Amino acid sequence: GLSTGACRPLTAFPSAALSEVAYAKINLALHVRRRRDDGYHDIESLFAFAEDGDRLHAVTRDDGQLSLTIDGPFGAGLDSGADNLVVRAAHALKNAFNITVGAAIHLNKRLPVASGIGGGSADAAAALRMLARLWAIDRPMHALAATIGSDVPACLVSRTLMGTGRGEALDLCAIDGLGGMPLLLVNPGIGLSTAPVFAGWDRVDRGPLVADTLDALIAEGRNDLYPPAVALVPQIGAVLESLAAQPGVRLARMSGSGATCFALFDDSAQRDAAAAAMPAHWWTLSSRVRA
Ligand code: C5P
Repeated sequence: GLSTGACRPLTAFPSAALSEVAYAKINLALHVRRRRDDGYHDIESLFAFAEDGDRLHAVTRDDGQLSLTIDGPFGAGLDSGADNLVVRAAHALKNAFNITVGAAIHLNKRLPVASGIGGGSADAAAALRMLARLWAIDRPMHALAATIGSDVPACLVSRTLMGTGRGEALDLCAIDGLGGMPLLLVNPGIGLSTAPVFAGWDRVDRGPLVADTLDALIAEGRNDLYPPAVALVPQIGAVLESLAAQPGVRLARMSGSGATCFALFDDSAQRDAAAAAMPAHWWTLSSRVRA
């Protein structure tokens, strides 16, 4: 065999890193129906996903440990310890299936944190998909995902879904014309936690979400968290007004508990023009609705 100092046995090489996209989540509509005794709210929400998002990578660790490193435009200041949802998801999966190998995970944080577009939930879900491949787990992860956060099951699927309960009870939704639609996300650069926004909901049930067509979703859909969110962060009002005023907008709405707002377009050139018209200090992401 080879005995030159430059060559080593193939088994000593690190396995190729797996990668996964944590697709940005949007709530095309979010109807809050009821405050529950457990503190959560029963919602009806149409989830959709952008084609773009955070990026995760992983390699196995033979010592059985889990580790997380973070970089990217929104990585600074993000906790990479045991409280990080990626780490919590990884530990939960490892324990649930008695996995002895570990993983070194890397998160490239490209989406603003605490911004209503999945963030930690999408990262946790992407970690579950990626580690299931790394560890050759071929079992349902929905229930495990729901223990990490209400939106993690939807993010696990990352397709257009109707979510009920606290958002974790899911049905696949086919809405004609939605997949591939040009999409613009805009955030004013102010973080907003989910709990205080739900706590500010006025407890008025404004009715169910019936979203069988795109036109019904646009005409009848609401985000009931918009009033409490804009009360906490008035800049959301400016973002939504700016988006709604752009030529070619089919729908402009706040996503989740904010502060990110989104707009749907029929034409990608109009989306690009809208993105260019936003103030430079606002974060924007031009993408499409994931089919
Ligand atoms: O499930 P998750 O930990 O992501 O939720 C964060 C917070 O958002 C909850 O503690 C709760 O205050 C609020 N929430 C809610 N109703 C939901 C989802 C979240 O009140 N359906």
